[in-house]
Amino acid sequence: MQCSRVIIASLIALSFVVAGCGPKKHNTSVVSAAPVPEIVQKNGRTALMVDGAPFLMLGVQANNAANYPSQLPKIWPAVEQLHANTLEIPVAWEQIEPTEGRFDFAWVDTLVKEARIHDTRLVLLWFATWKNTGPAYTPAWVKLDGKRFPHLIDAKGQVSSVLSPHFRTTLEADKKAFVALMSHLKEIDPQRTVLMVQVENEPGTYKSARDYSPAAQKLFAGPVPEKLVKHFNKQPGTWAQVFGKNADEYFHAWSIASYIEDVAAAGKAVYPLPMYVNAALRDPIKPDADPLTYAAGGPTWNVLGIYHLAAPSIFTAAPDIYSHDGATVFAHMDRYTVPGNPLMIVEIGSSQDFARYVYAAMGHRTLGFAPFGIDFTGYSNWPLGAKVVDAETVAPFATNFKVLHTMSREWAKLAYESDVWGVSEPDDHKAQEINLGRWKATVSYQEWQFGLKEWDPKGANGIPAGSENPEGGVAIARLGPDEFLVTGIHARATFNLANPKSADGMQFLSVEEGHYANGKWVFERVWNGDQTDWGLNFTDTPRILRVKLATY
Ligand code: DGJ
Repeated sequence: MQCSRVIIASLIALSFVVAGCGPKKHNTSVVSAAPVPEIVQKNGRTALMVDGAPFLMLGVQANNAANYPSQLPKIWPAVEQLHANTLEIPVAWEQIEPTEGRFDFAWVDTLVKEARIHDTRLVLLWFATWKNTGPAYTPAWVKLDGKRFPHLIDAKGQVSSVLSPHFRTTLEADKKAFVALMSHLKEIDPQRTVLMVQVENEPGTYKSARDYSPAAQKLFAGPVPEKLVKHFNKQPGTWAQVFGKNADEYFHAWSIASYIEDVAAAGKAVYPLPMYVNAALRDPIKPDADPLTYAAGGPTWNVLGIYHLAAPSIFTAAPDIYSHDGATVFAHMDRYTVPGNPLMIVEIGSSQDFARYVYAAMGHRTLGFAPFGIDFTGYSNWPLGAKVVDAETVAPFATNFKVLHTMSREWAKLAYESDVWGVSEPDDHKAQEINLGRWKATVSYQEWQFGLKEWDPKGANGIPAGSENPEGGVAIARLGPDEFLVTGIHARATFNLANPKSADGMQFLSVEEGHYANGKWVFERVWNGDQTDWGLNFTDTPRILRVKLATY
């Protein structure tokens, strides 16, 4: 039924050759309408469905000014070296609508065409009213017309550089351009090369908790919308009455999220691709951080509930992670993995220390993981990321992606349907325990492949080359009650009963190394003897293991 509808739609509306039904190979020659990517949810878990099956985005985000055809030859080699399956890249309002009402999709057309040649999926980043809060990517006719597109006024009456979310004129103009983009995508992309769209980029406002313009003041003095009052279990009243000291920030978050909802919903009405927002992050630990110290009104963890209420067309708020402190990175992941907000890391720093986090992210059932600014356009965002972006920068990410890429569909399915866990090496290299139910895994770092650390209590033999900096990680998925898929790098995973009875001991029934090809497990060899006596030791190349545990 579903299948024939797709075929009929393809024949009538698109007049394309239909090659059959079910998941399609992502190619350029035979064009048939593949299912529109979608977000599905089951038992509190979320999957991004691509070609009808769960998809793990092993992505990369290009630098900001990469959105011109001239830059693509410097981008594809990085995507390829990285073994990324998806490229996240901007589409700027200023480039598609340089003159009001006249649209130019040359960039989008070239990008989509080349992505197909490079067998890479796309996530488009709509840089419009907000880009790192500012309006730099709006067209000149917006930038120069502060009357029609008013800026926000701060508490001291100063005109801010950012646009106010309270003007219909701005919203309608942004929306019109976004709808034009989505209509165009619908027309040119039956292959679904474009998987998702990010609506705006890091919305919010630095140095002002909200807009204090007369228009905003009027709304602020009015009643809080009913669904928000209900959500917070409060009595009706004005923003200040209902939310007290949080009123300014909550009002701003509601205003921006409602604006984004309007844009996203209009875009989805013409072409319902999954849509999300990304967040400039607030301290993940301090509950009382001052909103003037971060992008207030953006989708920071403390207002995720407000965002999801105001913007049901947005399936998640994705964190942009740039902290070099491991504990902070783990806390960010936890903050953005909450019911109704599945984790998807659409930006993470490009320096080596960030590569290992893909394993912890997988343990959080992430829908994607994408280092930012890895391309060869000659730009680096140090100190957020690497000092120089070159082949050496790509390597630590590529080492992981190269192997994860081969099992990404299987992993995505397991993350949607089964139990998964994942850890990344902490800054202090301390071992971590994972509770697998009946079993537990201990993941330790800076281990030789053979023997125990206590054999060398003074550390006279040093540590294995390549394990000096935290680069390790392990991801585990349940294949059966006592069977697990295990992969990792620079780490040792040992298994034990979670609650050992004195009479019971753990034994490996089998540890198979192999890989996945065309959805099937391909056996390579059995690990045994030295390869299992001291746990499962992952060195500088991730391996894929199927592990069966038993007692004796
Ligand atoms: C986060 C933004 O979303 C990116 O576009 C970029 O500006 C980085 N910050 C900094 O390189």
